[in-house]
Amino acid sequence: MAQSQSSPRSSHQMPDAFHWGVATSSYQIEGAVNEDGRGASIWDTYAHTIGKIKNGDTGDVADDHYHRYADDVKLMQSIGVTAYRFSVAWPRIFPNGTGTPNPQGLAFYDRLVDAQLSAGIEPFATLYHWDLPQALQDRYGGWQSRDTAKAFAEYAGYVASKLGDRVKHFFTMNEFYSFVDMGYQGIEIDVGAQKVRVELAPGLHVGPAIYQVRHNAVLAQGLAIQAIRAVVKAGTKCGPADNINSAVPVVNTPENIAAAQRATRELNAAYLTVMLEGAYTDAYLEAAGQDGPKVLDGDLKVIGTPVDFVGINVYRPSVYVIPSADAPGFKAIPFNASHPHMLSSWHLLGPEVMYWAPRQVRSLWGAKEIYITESGCGASDVISPDGRVYDSDRIMYTRNNLVWLQRATAEGVPVAGYFQWSFMDNFEWGDGYGNRFGLVYVDFSSQKRIPKLSASYFKAAAAANAPV
Ligand code: NOJ
Repeated sequence: MAQSQSSPRSSHQMPDAFHWGVATSSYQIEGAVNEDGRGASIWDTYAHTIGKIKNGDTGDVADDHYHRYADDVKLMQSIGVTAYRFSVAWPRIFPNGTGTPNPQGLAFYDRLVDAQLSAGIEPFATLYHWDLPQALQDRYGGWQSRDTAKAFAEYAGYVASKLGDRVKHFFTMNEFYSFVDMGYQGIEIDVGAQKVRVELAPGLHVGPAIYQVRHNAVLAQGLAIQAIRAVVKAGTKCGPADNINSAVPVVNTPENIAAAQRATRELNAAYLTVMLEGAYTDAYLEAAGQDGPKVLDGDLKVIGTPVDFVGINVYRPSVYVIPSADAPGFKAIPFNASHPHMLSSWHLLGPEVMYWAPRQVRSLWGAKEIYITESGCGASDVISPDGRVYDSDRIMYTRNNLVWLQRATAEGVPVAGYFQWSFMDNFEWGDGYGNRFGLVYVDFSSQKRIPKLSASYFKAAAAANAPV
């Protein structure tokens, strides 16, 4: 009897030991850009370039997390967070990109990790969330050079050797497509009613050389995995946190599902596919023609270095597809102008992507451990007269995502954790501070933190280990 009473509820739960996490990144929250020996990053330069960021916002102060980290971690604990994905700022550790490490920079992450462990929160460290040392941009042209890939591996190995006694999960790089394609050529995103142009630091337009920049980035990931493995103890895991381009079947028949899977493999040819297969797809190389990357002997083996897990950032379907008789066997359909969306211009809705993306990562590449390293939404949050923030749209978005994610786990897709983007409102790149993604509202003039209603939702879901 007891069993039949509990079974309906447990059938909606996430797997045991599921991580209920929140995510942030260094430049978006830390501030303190000139403290304790930190070097400049390409984001300092870019944000201070007139016209690049809405309202002229910069990350100079951001959430002042560098000074407030201890209270922030306590706040995480109070809203039921069990894992925290933060990023390490490379220019705090190596102010010049390479050379002598800066002990004060590392000391900050030591304190941050220790604070998490004392709060019972599992630390997940990302080593690159876009704040490349400006010195490497100046010296090598950033990711245009293989030298930056080598420098990244050295930095990654160094940080892992220092934090690896306490941090059991390292993400190498965050969102390849964003920092490469948006950083080195800018992209246009189909949002139904229009196309939106998105650009990130360093704001270059390298033309066909983009193929080489992409290659250098995946090479960096492979070299970093090897460098991390060389210094950490057995059981420490590492892998990427990529914004997978997810093709979602609109009609769920076997033929449509197969077409969507083919599409996802091709749409990720430059990043996840080559990292997880150790080879570029024929279609990718054909499309590149003579602009294709210069692949040196051994590169593909490095790029294909096995990872322990695959992290994916999942916000929206990249495309909906239907099968096609013509090569490559799928057709991406246009979004209707009326397709619903969240606040960010690029953010079309399609919660079923939270099922298809991890399912395809397993079916395409046999991943044994998957993390949803980011999901969340910007919303037009305001403080109500009663002092609270009622973000019911964010709760709707999150609940739908979790329901679809739970379906994936119930079918055996090995998703081990979900990280909400973001813990608190922060510097949303080109959109500045106007676009709030947090579970916690931040008043940027006083630095006061106010947990939103979505924080209560997150806490309840984490406690139930289920979408509620
Ligand atoms: C992905 C990025 O990793 C993160 O930095 C950004 O703020 C969110 N998406 C929301 O746009």
